[in-house]
Amino acid sequence: MTLTLEAAVALLRRGEVVAFPTETVYGLGADARRSDAVARIYALKGRPADHPLIVHVALREALADVATEVNEAAHRLGSAFWPGPLTLVVARGGDLCAEVTGGRSTVAVRVPDHPLALALLGAFGGPVAAPSANRFGAVSPTAAEHVRADFGDAVAVLDGGPCVVGLESTIVDCSGPSPAILRPGGVTREAIEACLGHAVPVLLTSAVRVSGQLESHYAPHAEVHVARGDAADALARTLAAHRRVAVLAPVLSDAARGDGVLHVFLGSTAEAQARELYSALRRADALGVDAIVVASAGSVEGLGLALADRLSKASAPRS
Ligand code: TXA
Ligand code: MG
Repeated sequence: MTLTLEAAVALLRRGEVVAFPTETVYGLGADARRSDAVARIYALKGRPADHPLIVHVALREALADVATEVNEAAHRLGSAFWPGPLTLVVARGGDLCAEVTGGRSTVAVRVPDHPLALALLGAFGGPVAAPSANRFGAVSPTAAEHVRADFGDAVAVLDGGPCVVGLESTIVDCSGPSPAILRPGGVTREAIEACLGHAVPVLLTSAVRVSGQLESHYAPHAEVHVARGDAADALARTLAAHRRVAVLAPVLSDAARGDGVLHVFLGSTAEAQARELYSALRRADALGVDAIVVASAGSVEGLGLALADRLSKASAPRS
């Protein structure tokens, strides 16, 4: 079911759920002030109720409506990167419902950089809670058809085309005395450190329960293996001796070619790989392969850090 901006705003006003595009991934949105609306998000996603959601607002200034005691670091980062793929964790305030933050005293907030998202948030005029619009534990959606594939007619989708960043926002915890990155994403660690003028740690295993931090998150159905260049070729051939394998790479090398090895295009730059990774994983799954080999550059600079993080989660042992 596709819908117009006006219809999407009307659904939000009625406490219903609407999927909408952002520059990172599609979100599953509902009024962040209404418990009944937020409960619909958790139910649809199949997400545990103690996993907090990100609150989306149309303007930087609206941070004051959902947060209190916003410190200097949060102000700086918001001014530098909003609208953009950055989420700030700050002390919660305003009239958010308790469920949106999973009962905790902090809230995650961002201003997305997508014209349709900003139009929706502006016309609605209030905070919109939105996790990525996929079922819990599955690959995040970077196109409207991915949302439809996961939810069918149960969710109305505002179609804004493919997402330009393709990986989730960077989450920076600014609720304490020194900021820390909880999830690498579309804004690089280097850019955050340049903005703040000092080093910022990446805490991938913080005590804070962040759903994106669970092992085996962002996982397709097929098992995922990550390997560099030559190693990826060899691995694809070995796996293909027993199973159907998809190789995610710019080209399928002769060394990887063999019975049962399929090629799924993945660009060569970190930006292209970030943008295309989730849809390539979904495409490989749709081919019905048993295993996916991702040929990775392995860099952890710039967007490489977020890519490496998502690949390690997609390839983590399944529980
Ligand atoms: O790019 C994005 O951030 C996308 C788009 C839709 O905006 N949203 C997204 O939401 O990735 P979700 O729910 O899939 O991930 C939200 C992350 C989770 O890891 C959650 O635990 C964390 O944000 N989070 C939310 N509130 C938090 C808080 N108060 N403290 C620490 N982490 C928090
Ligand atoms: Mg998610």
